[in-house]
Amino acid sequence: AGLLEDRLLPLLRAVPDHPVPGVTFRDITPLLGDAGALRAAVEGMAAALPAGTEYVAGVEARGFVLGAAVAVAAGAGFVPVRKAGRLPREVLAEEYALEYGTATVELHADALPAGARVVVCDDVLATGGTADAACRLVERAGGEVASVAFLLELAALPGRARLEEHGRDVRSLLRL
Ligand code: PRP
Ligand code: MG
Repeated sequence: AGLLEDRLLPLLRAVPDHPVPGVTFRDITPLLGDAGALRAAVEGMAAALPAGTEYVAGVEARGFVLGAAVAVAAGAGFVPVRKAGRLPREVLAEEYALEYGTATVELHADALPAGARVVVCDDVLATGGTADAACRLVERAGGEVASVAFLLELAALPGRARLEEHGRDVRSLLRL
């Protein structure tokens, strides 16, 4: 893990007091723009998926970028978990609280076959509210949450504990 962390962590920039005072925003765009780092991150996340993963469910917006790439690398399909109002057909919805404000995420009701093995994927695990809601959506749609995969886990925040309390297998490539 040491080499990968030395390579990738400097490309995740901390932006203090964004978008509101007291919140440190983790900007992944320097990593996304570095071809070798992007490949290393995607391949590292894909390698950590449980065997038999059939779908990666990525959370809008930053979970789309990594999730779709991880799905391709792992030979899985991609399912979008979107912010409210974007998906065109019948949806399931879950509300959650963020570090800043509240939001709703949605999933097409017929997005998954019954019993599908799904990995929920996002860029950053902070409070865990977003991923927790995405997991509930996957289960309500009939899928099985095989694990929850992140590029970066913020270990000082209670995200992992919250997800593990709900029985989730949390896998993060990097920890800060
Ligand atoms: C950020 C980040 C994660 C989530 C992590 O997304 O991309 O999805 O917050 O926070 P949590 O663990 O406390 O839920 P954000 O809602 O800012 O939007 P974006 O992905 O559309 O940029
Ligand atoms: Mg997000």
